[in-house]
Amino acid sequence: MQINQSSLALIEQFAEQWQQHWGMFTPDASLAVSPDVFEKAWATYTQRLMGNYPFHHPRYAGQMLKPPHPVAMLGYMAAMFINPNNHALDGGPPTSEMEKEVIKQLTAMFNLPHNTLGHLTSSGTIANLEALWVANKLHPNKKIAFSADAHYTHERICSVLGIETIKIPTNNNGTIDTNVLADLLQTDTIGTVVATAGTTGLGMVDAINELLTLQKTYPFRIHVDAAYGGFFRLLADDEQYLGVAAQSFRAIAHCNSVVIDPHKHGLQPYGCGCVLFSDPNVGRFYQHDSPYTYFTSNELHLGEISLECSRAGAAAGALWLTLQCIPLKADTGLGAVLKQCITAAQNWAKLLDNNSNWQLFIEPQLDIIAYFPKAKSTAEVDELSYQIFDTAMNASPTESVFVSLYNVDATILAQKFGIEANTKRCRILRSALLKPEHAQYVPYLHQQLSHILHKLQNNYGR
Ligand SMILES: Cc1ncc(COP(=O)(O)O)c(C=O)c1O
Repeated sequence: MQINQSSLALIEQFAEQWQQHWGMFTPDASLAVSPDVFEKAWATYTQRLMGNYPFHHPRYAGQMLKPPHPVAMLGYMAAMFINPNNHALDGGPPTSEMEKEVIKQLTAMFNLPHNTLGHLTSSGTIANLEALWVANKLHPNKKIAFSADAHYTHERICSVLGIETIKIPTNNNGTIDTNVLADLLQTDTIGTVVATAGTTGLGMVDAINELLTLQKTYPFRIHVDAAYGGFFRLLADDEQYLGVAAQSFRAIAHCNSVVIDPHKHGLQPYGCGCVLFSDPNVGRFYQHDSPYTYFTSNELHLGEISLECSRAGAAAGALWLTLQCIPLKADTGLGAVLKQCITAAQNWAKLLDNNSNWQLFIEPQLDIIAYFPKAKSTAEVDELSYQIFDTAMNASPTESVFVSLYNVDATILAQKFGIEANTKRCRILRSALLKPEHAQYVPYLHQQLSHILHKLQNNYGR
């Protein structure tokens, strides 16, 4: 499936059908744009867009960025002719219905209770904000704890909400140290623990099953930030792909709230996050008066259970259409896509492991890998990593390779790999393999980076 003339013709047909259904009218002259003006602006616009990095290409393995699936694009474009607003049923009954249906599908994917309350949001940040806002309503004077590797959004959200936080160190597999957490829970000052199912930096999954065990002794909430990793739940019914992380994904079924971002691994355009609450009674915190909306139906209006007002109905429509075509299944649909991504990470890890030039930083759990060129000191690792990152992305447009950098504590890196620590921090390389095509491209990416490293080593006379 591609965006081409015949798929764009579907959009045109739909737009005509929609407009003719309600009768044609003449747009006001004030909205007219002269063809010359448009042509010039369009040329500049598209030329400026060309300045982007090639997020769609398998040679791009930098950040968690990729274009939406063509099905999602078509779904979004068709809905844009209507521009429904999923705040209230007054603003878009069909896409609100679709939103409720996809919420049920995501609820089922996580095995959460059938009556789980949830909605889409504009982003993972807003979804997490809602979850922590609810958490604080339930445990007003208590702290929110998260690991040192949790997304920075939690610290910022808590600062916005005026909630005290506590950062729990990670152990050497990059996940929350549950022993330190257990000691802190004894002080009865922690109301909520945020577990990350797929850290942004390294793709590591906190031991959520261990948090559930602790919850039997201490009365705290568990919120899971699965913004990036949530869809890997599809592969968690056996350990084949996810190893120990499978248990954590299965444990999400018993947690209090979960965030997942369809605009990361759900093939959607930006503007599609999601929050789910296993106890629908938390809906009471959202109660508010709206003298302008909620008139067209006595059914639930999504604005009654979300903090945002206007939200793109097109985002719900695009997700609904995508899940009809690429369903939430393990062996086909989205599961098949994610298997390719995991395979890409595992295969690259094998190429890096036991390699005389490269060091794998940590065994990958999902589809992010971190690695660095072998060197005697952290200063050298830092410099070489930066040079590789910079040289790879500045090659010709058909040969450039895009990876990212990850900033780690130099002392920890030095201790772990037996090199000299002569800096405080140290940049290493990181690749986010979020496209299934990466499975094919890993040997090429590895070869290109190795080639650059080889040249740099020769230049430095190493
Ligand atoms: C684990 C995690 N949580 C939250 C966020 C923030 O989500 P968003 O960028 O959709 O606001 C991200 C973004 O990368 C993330 O990886």
